[in-house]
Amino acid sequence: MSNKRAMAQLLKHLSSIGVTHVPKVELAKRRVSAARGPSAPAAVDSSVTPEQPSGVPGTSRRPTKPAPVTAAIKPMRRVPGMLDAEDLHPSSVRVPELLPEVVRVRERAYQTREAKEEALCGLKSVVAGCQRCPELSSRRTQTVFGVGNANARIMIIGEAPGQDEDEQGEPFVGEAGQLLNKIISASQLRREDLYICNILRCRPPGNRNPLPQEAANCREFLDAQIHVVQPEFIICLGAVAAQNLLGVETPISKMRGQFFSYGSSRVLCTYHPSYLLRNPNAKKQVWEDMKFFMKELGVELQ
Ligand code: URA
Repeated sequence: MSNKRAMAQLLKHLSSIGVTHVPKVELAKRRVSAARGPSAPAAVDSSVTPEQPSGVPGTSRRPTKPAPVTAAIKPMRRVPGMLDAEDLHPSSVRVPELLPEVVRVRERAYQTREAKEEALCGLKSVVAGCQRCPELSSRRTQTVFGVGNANARIMIIGEAPGQDEDEQGEPFVGEAGQLLNKIISASQLRREDLYICNILRCRPPGNRNPLPQEAANCREFLDAQIHVVQPEFIICLGAVAAQNLLGVETPISKMRGQFFSYGSSRVLCTYHPSYLLRNPNAKKQVWEDMKFFMKELGVELQ
């Protein structure tokens, strides 16, 4: 792939996950603008590429070959918790080799709650030993597999464990979890009837967004959990859950208020409780989504 295309893809991906500032780009900007001459615009867009004509027409400045943008980004020292181009570039995501224990779980069909619990228990111990993401596995207190009714009609999928979840080994037990509990009970549901898990099973440092490679590493486990539980409905909380599960880049604001399909499950996407903690005005939209969702289950919420 050309550097031009790679850079365009990277920028598109960055903006789709809400990243507006990547400090390393400053380095690329400086190098590239130096190469283009002082009067040339120094915008960081897809035109900032090695293919850019070198030198400014009409000046006697000696043409200089611009540094490839990816090369300009990469030499930065790796800072834990800070993203670099390789982490973010979707084309660099490798699908890991499937684990035979997990493949075996997905080859079977599970009818009873007991059979599902047993399968989930086996998966949970496979996940506990996972080391696919070196940064996450070396920092975690424990993996956070999932919790709830193995035979649930409704599965809730969040983003990744935070500090409280990492410490307690259960999804949604921190502040966002308390708000989720309120949403659940206001919707006339009970947490213990649902199955709750995340896109990732390990806490990302500083609660940063999961990297595409981390989501790919953990996907096998999520799909196995969905296969075992066979939920009729999935509620994705936030853009990370919705976009990763459905493999789209659509903003969450455009995905809410409608159903999607994933396998045999119907999927509703709404805002993440952490977003609601920062933006309480969005609570009414989540409430609309829950009313829309519960209506589908035959419950009219006021
Ligand atoms: N946020 C999530 O997305 N998942 C959790 O488990 C906790 C907070």
